[in-house]
Amino acid sequence: MAGRVETPIQWNNRWQLLLLSLLVCIPASQLLADDDAEAVQFDRQVRTIFSNHCYACHGPDANAREGDLRLDLEQSVFSKRDPVTIQPGQASASEIYRRITSDDPDLQMPPPDAKKPLSDEQKATIGHWIDQGAEWESHWAWTAPQPVQVPGARKMRGVINDIDRFILTRLGQAGLKRVQPADPVTLIRRLSFDLACHPRPNRSGPSLKRAARMPTTSW
Ligand code: HEC
Repeated sequence: MAGRVETPIQWNNRWQLLLLSLLVCIPASQLLADDDAEAVQFDRQVRTIFSNHCYACHGPDANAREGDLRLDLEQSVFSKRDPVTIQPGQASASEIYRRITSDDPDLQMPPPDAKKPLSDEQKATIGHWIDQGAEWESHWAWTAPQPVQVPGARKMRGVINDIDRFILTRLGQAGLKRVQPADPVTLIRRLSFDLACHPRPNRSGPSLKRAARMPTTSW
């Protein structure tokens, strides 16, 4: 035992160290979880950028196509090209990323005269998508629906059905709070715009008043 003289102070230090490592680990693991949550979804986030900013010259229209590159087709994007268009897992080795982040007007995509510049956020989204493996998804309209896990805690305030759980969870991720439910008159007005493209005629006055007294849950 002579070699293992441990004073209470040293033990304290150990506990402090343990506590410190816990403090350091917790945010790190949360960060990892956030990274997971922020996995870029090709169909929702990347295809929309390609479609708005690139398809005019790299889309289905053969007459307008430039550089013999189609960004609407997986086999074109991942075909053997030199330089390689997309190197999954490595944005910096991908011509597409070099082009969208280039300052050189001769290389920059979209070309400056197309007047469709990408925001820094859009460039980062494409970069993250490539770094995360550049997984291609077919258009959602052609994808068979899959059962998904309903998100959120079992008890959530203000949940009427599971759709609310998806919405509340997503609002929470975006740091947003939901607003109070609209009153019945406003709901009728919105519904009228949706269905008839104009508000209800005046003669509906009395029923609007009646509607205003109805609880929103009866809609
Ligand atoms: C106004 C037309 C136009 C738009 C819009 C456009 N491009 Fe291009 N793109 C071109 C032309 C022309 C070339 C061929 C000349 C060159 O290589 O610079 C090209 C070439 C490329 C190349 C190199 C192809 C190769 O293999 O050599 C990539 C990658 C590319 N574009 C990506 C994009 C991306 C991503 C977008 C949208 C964010 C986009 N482009 C939008 C016109 C356009």
